[in-house]
Amino acid sequence: MSGRLELERIVYCSQARRPEVALQSLAEILAVSDRNNRRDNLTGVLLISRGRFFQVLEGAAQDLDRTMSRIRLDPRHHDVEIVSRGPARGRLFGQWGMVAARVTPMRQAQIDAVIDRCHEDPGAAVEAARNLLDHQIAA
Ligand SMILES: Cc1cc2nc3c(=O)[nH]c(=O)nc-3n(C[C@H](O)[C@H](O)[C@H](O)COP(=O)(O)O)c2cc1C
Repeated sequence: MSGRLELERIVYCSQARRPEVALQSLAEILAVSDRNNRRDNLTGVLLISRGRFFQVLEGAAQDLDRTMSRIRLDPRHHDVEIVSRGPARGRLFGQWGMVAARVTPMRQAQIDAVIDRCHEDPGAAVEAARNLLDHQIAA
């Protein structure tokens, strides 16, 4: 990848339109995201719990803008709120196109903890999401 790529990271949270629909949608969202994000060189993570989404996206500014415009218009969620956006030194989620933490009873509390921190401390939420994945991959 070009060293001149100006990497940015966006963190947002949103409300699923209907919590019970959200889980079903997740597989669909991930399939499309994986395809598009690979094409656009975007990496990140998507978490869902209790009807709320939390997503981190990293890549070039124009690719992030284009993707965020589509995401904002998606009727599967609303109240899309960007809690953090800025330059990033490197990719935190570089190994993955777009991953979702599996929602298992064991993971639930950890995922909730990440999403709960979305507004008050987005940086900590990103870090916690990253740790969550490390453990998931290791498990
Ligand atoms: C919570 C949430 C996260 C999403 N994340 C992504 C994403 O990372 N990349 C992406 O391309 N689409 C994402 N989407 C889907 C977009 O809203 C949109 O449906 C999709 O980009 C359309 O792709 P297409 O034009 O190739 O059909 C997400 C949707 C939701 C509801």
